[in-house]
Amino acid sequence: ARVTLRQLLDHAAEHGYGVPAYNINNMEQGLAIMQAAQDTQSPVIIQASRGARKYAGDFMLAKLIEGLEALYPDIPICLHQDHGNNPATCLSAIQHGFTSVMMDGSLEEDAKTPASYDYNVGVTKKVTEMAHWVGASVEGELGCLGSLETGEGEAEDGHGFEGALSRDKLLTNPDEAKQFVAETKVDALAVAIGTSHGAYKFTRKPTGEILAMDVIEAIHERLPNTHIVMHGSSSVPQDLQDMINAYGGDMRETYGVPVEEIVRGIRHGVRKVNIDTDLRMAATGTIRKVFHENPAEFDPRKYLKPAMEAMQKVCAERFEAFGTAGNA
Ligand code: G3H
Ligand code: 13P
Ligand code: NA
Ligand code: ZN
Repeated sequence: ARVTLRQLLDHAAEHGYGVPAYNINNMEQGLAIMQAAQDTQSPVIIQASRGARKYAGDFMLAKLIEGLEALYPDIPICLHQDHGNNPATCLSAIQHGFTSVMMDGSLEEDAKTPASYDYNVGVTKKVTEMAHWVGASVEGELGCLGSLETGEGEAEDGHGFEGALSRDKLLTNPDEAKQFVAETKVDALAVAIGTSHGAYKFTRKPTGEILAMDVIEAIHERLPNTHIVMHGSSSVPQDLQDMINAYGGDMRETYGVPVEEIVRGIRHGVRKVNIDTDLRMAATGTIRKVFHENPAEFDPRKYLKPAMEAMQKVCAERFEAFGTAGNA
């Protein structure tokens, strides 16, 4: 059954758990997420980026989600637009059955340039007003995703902005967060704490210097009833890096967000945890392994099925770790 982000996260807050939000582009990801949800009895957030909507097409995505709903009727599903860049993206998502949208006004519409606070409030407020008319939820973002190691802020395409930014320019300001939520009425707030998208988040296992979990605590103190969202929250597991590299891949040494740090965040108001990279890595490592071990094989099902199972395993692990399990 389709639910809104607000419904899902209110339940999560009441019961003290977090919900992974997995990115979807295709059927294999959808089936992996839903089978893991069924096995662990977890509610799910499935999110599509603008790139995903372009890749699969809105009609295919909408029908895919309908199919997943029919296969798993007892699992609550929130379908969420990831990183909407303008009101039109958000509204067309709602037209296609999305029950929640992210208006990412932390960047300009080009998704490349950091935006002013006033632009962010204006564009986000416009979306919350319209989305709430039709019962959809809205996630906003304040602060700048990017690395505290290099000071590089991150645009949507993964490229850094010109010049290094100071710590307080990158991180979400807790007092500003309070004002932002009051002005925009967002249902959930994405914050910047030193994470970035993709596999290359940290050059070493992150400590408080480069992963600012204390900012989450400060925001939660000021906004105890606002659902906090962590982006760039893949853990980039070492075993998946090793598998990719063992079978012909080339990933340099890197560290993601440790699961135990996310669990700590969940104790301080984090309710939605965005994960894409970990599933990409599980699929890629598995497919590389099949190709390496069976170079004569050319039936896609022979590698897509194990890839699906590897993604499902990661999904189930996060449902268990975040306390989502048992709450469907
Ligand atoms: O925001 C980043 C997500 O991992 C989605 O990535 O824009 O390549 O689909 P994408
Ligand atoms: P990862 O790249 O860490 O999986 O983050 C995904 C994300 O934040 C999508 O919005
Ligand atoms: Na999002
Ligand atoms: Zn993100």
